[in-house]
Amino acid sequence: MKYYITTPIYYPNSSPHIGTAYTTIAADAMARLRRMKGDDVYFLTGTDENAQKIVRTAENAGVDPHTYVDGIVKRFRELWELLQISNDDFIRTTEDRHAKVVQYIFNRLYEQGDIYKSEYEGWYCTPCETFWTENKLVDGKCPNPDCGREVELLKEESYFFKMSKYQDRLLKHIHENPDFIQPLSRRNEMIKFIEGGLEDLCVSRTTFNWGIKVPFDPKHVVYVWLDALINYISALGYPDGENYQKYWPAEVHLMGKDIVRFHSIIWPITLMALDVPLPEKVFGHGWFLNREGGKISKSRGNVQDSFELIRRYGPDPIRYFLLREMQFGMDGTYSEDDLVERLNSDLANDLGNFVSRTLAMIVKYNQGKVPVPGTDTILEKELKELSLLVKNGTEAKMLDCDPAGALEFVWQYVSRCNKYVDETAPWTLAKDPANKERLDTVLYTFVEAIRILGILCAPFMPGVPEKLKPLLGTEGLFNDWEQAARWNIIQPGTVIQKGDPIFPRIDISVYTGEESKESAGQEKQKTESKEGKQIMQEGAKDISKEMVPLKEEITIDEFGKMDLRVVKVLRAEKVEKADKLLRLEVEMGNEIRTIVSGIAQHYAPDDLVGKKVILVANLKPAKLRGIESQGMILAASHNGELEVLSVSKDIPTGAQVK
Ligand code: ME8
Ligand code: MG
Repeated sequence: MKYYITTPIYYPNSSPHIGTAYTTIAADAMARLRRMKGDDVYFLTGTDENAQKIVRTAENAGVDPHTYVDGIVKRFRELWELLQISNDDFIRTTEDRHAKVVQYIFNRLYEQGDIYKSEYEGWYCTPCETFWTENKLVDGKCPNPDCGREVELLKEESYFFKMSKYQDRLLKHIHENPDFIQPLSRRNEMIKFIEGGLEDLCVSRTTFNWGIKVPFDPKHVVYVWLDALINYISALGYPDGENYQKYWPAEVHLMGKDIVRFHSIIWPITLMALDVPLPEKVFGHGWFLNREGGKISKSRGNVQDSFELIRRYGPDPIRYFLLREMQFGMDGTYSEDDLVERLNSDLANDLGNFVSRTLAMIVKYNQGKVPVPGTDTILEKELKELSLLVKNGTEAKMLDCDPAGALEFVWQYVSRCNKYVDETAPWTLAKDPANKERLDTVLYTFVEAIRILGILCAPFMPGVPEKLKPLLGTEGLFNDWEQAARWNIIQPGTVIQKGDPIFPRIDISVYTGEESKESAGQEKQKTESKEGKQIMQEGAKDISKEMVPLKEEITIDEFGKMDLRVVKVLRAEKVEKADKLLRLEVEMGNEIRTIVSGIAQHYAPDDLVGKKVILVANLKPAKLRGIESQGMILAASHNGELEVLSVSKDIPTGAQVK
């Protein structure tokens, strides 16, 4: 079967960040899984370069737009390579192969009367690259709830696309194809929006000349969204390219919820007008927010350098964290602390330890050779049955564009494997030679389980099979998805290696300068791998001991938006499995709130009870470790020291801080 999957083409207005990376990684995992199933996959990503915002950004940087985008596009390509993205093509909308298709389409739509010339008078939001009519604006600003920025008044000659003509056909298509727009919440939004009535769309601009020229009227450039969407077929060589014949229509256009509207209105209508079949599915996932609840975004600049992150943790943990953390249909929260926690618990502890301890036992009890298995007991049978269930479940979740759900299946298997080690207790079997056959069966099952985990992890973390290959001493074990549910693949007699831990534990204090208290009883896996040590040492150099630079200035009105209150801590306790977090219950007037605060390494819970501290009371609630935090406690910090701000006078709780 063929499978065509796309990501959005990103604006190269600044370097890619982990939000951008999420979509690309998710699409990559889907593409990889389908390739492992033997499907003929085409996976496309690229950059959307003909935007007005690019002209502006380049101007500000004092370079011409071409030079500017070339530099940023290079960063995108580098990042995708580091993250092991397996795209088959990378399209830039400044390429001729793209421009020529856009011009062909514009011409055709004009000739068949779907595009006509008129005048546009209205507003434009450059960050969103969107036209807005006066009545849609909110307080004179961009009505996009994620934007709200300044809009500009335009009055210029423009070409228009008769979208209204296709409104009924589009609605009919959406109703007849319940899977076309997903998830359901997005679909409902879109239906409502379209039912509200479509206006003809302005599809050309004359006030700047960066972009693809309208072929018969070259003082116009094509509107960037019409231009950009066409990439999905221009990259395939529409109208007569071989790849177009082979791969179109796309099985899935994957994207964030911010741009589902363009993909479920402008894009299908363009295709209908061209008599081209529509894509199977437009899927809009949630956003990665930072801990304060803000969207991580290039134009907001609140972005952690993704290259630095990869250097610190490697590509697999970042891929795993992002895929695991974005729950289906919801927004995800990103923080480096959570990333490290996932790395240590899920990767180092659960997966990594299973591999190290079982291989170590084969070395110890069978001289590193895979033994001949004896008869299965109920335990082996269970493990085998579960592998089929997990394989099918993982696959089904990926078909639904739900990598987090898929990874939950895989980790169910990881847990079951660890439980199997404890249940079979090979260290006890090894004491009595009479148990040799049973021990051999268990050891054999270990290697098979490692092999299966390698397959199950491969779409998500392509580095895992690479790490396992030298340990299992056999090439080519991890390419075939179906083999995740087949057993007795590895030949007895194969020599295995113990090797370094596949995921060394990381101590985040190396990066933050903060002391990290590991829970005392927990066995700590030493980070002995050379690479791990080196990464850490390099990281350590980056910690600046200087003062954090001042932020840009704000007005008194902006400051006034913050609602700071005195609150009293009534109860405090550690959050399970999170060594930095405390869960606090605080009193604010006659209201009680729950706060999750990252201060567990500086305060014992009891030290806080009774204290009057300062709360940011109107901060949008955020979920941390499943607990909703209704605000944030203020604290001063420097070089790893931290002190919670408090008031000592008898000021009642609920009092304002100004
Ligand atoms: O919209 N969380 O490009 P763009 C999750 N050029 N995903 C995020 C994210 C976040 N915080 N931030 C960005 C454009 N994304 C157009 C697309 S397509 C024909 C043209 C991802 O650079 C997500 O996929 O603003 C989102 O839809 C996309 O980046 C927007 O990228
Ligand atoms: Mg954007």
